[in-house]
Amino acid sequence: MTSYQLAPSILSASFSHLADEIKTVMDAGVRVIHVDVMDGHFVPNITIGPVVVRSVRDLVHGAGGVLDVHLMIENPERFIDAFAAAGSDWINVHAEACTHLNAVLAQIRAAGCKAGVTLNPATPLATIQEVTGDIDYALMMTVNPGFSGQEFIASVLPKVRRARTLLPPQVGLQVDGGVGPDTIEAALDTGANLFVAGSAVFGEPDPAQAARALMAAMEARQKGE
Ligand code: DX5
Ligand code: ZN
Repeated sequence: MTSYQLAPSILSASFSHLADEIKTVMDAGVRVIHVDVMDGHFVPNITIGPVVVRSVRDLVHGAGGVLDVHLMIENPERFIDAFAAAGSDWINVHAEACTHLNAVLAQIRAAGCKAGVTLNPATPLATIQEVTGDIDYALMMTVNPGFSGQEFIASVLPKVRRARTLLPPQVGLQVDGGVGPDTIEAALDTGANLFVAGSAVFGEPDPAQAARALMAAMEARQKGE
């Protein structure tokens, strides 16, 4: 989980051409596809369910990729098994949505998936202090979840930096929200290695080129340039 990976969010893709959109970015070198699941309760929007994960699983897995499922839902424990069965590889839940976070993370792993925990911009890092040994990655939101295309909240960056020092080295660190050409360098400066981008990839006229440009910035960082 500690290699640099761009995770384009299909929330910004055209759902009438979803397979083509995914194929386009995977042909450009993307290996992580981010799926934003919203329930209209935890966040003020409704999006994708397990049926969509199931419909793209063969395409993504066949190209050597993984499905990174971001559950922005209340009571995520009710849906983890369905998302795992549908073909999810990584599943992350919001700490704010879990009364029994330790149990939910164990449920994700028991379902055969990598487990992640996510924090909203205003949630203190200490919220995940006691579960750092129970996760494969942590996600720090740099927007308030609910919609793509929002402005990057730069005041979250010091928390992301502190997260890197809190987390064991093998645990991945992901940033989600408002990541694009103007913010990727600041996001990379934190030590994060997984970057979600929705509108900055699928909202661009040439998503393959947009993905390649963001991956080039990550590659340069990996080489220490
Ligand atoms: C926000 C979602 C994000 C979002 C990213 O609620 O979790 O993954 O789709 O979109 P951009 O990159 O446009 O902020
Ligand atoms: Zn997301």
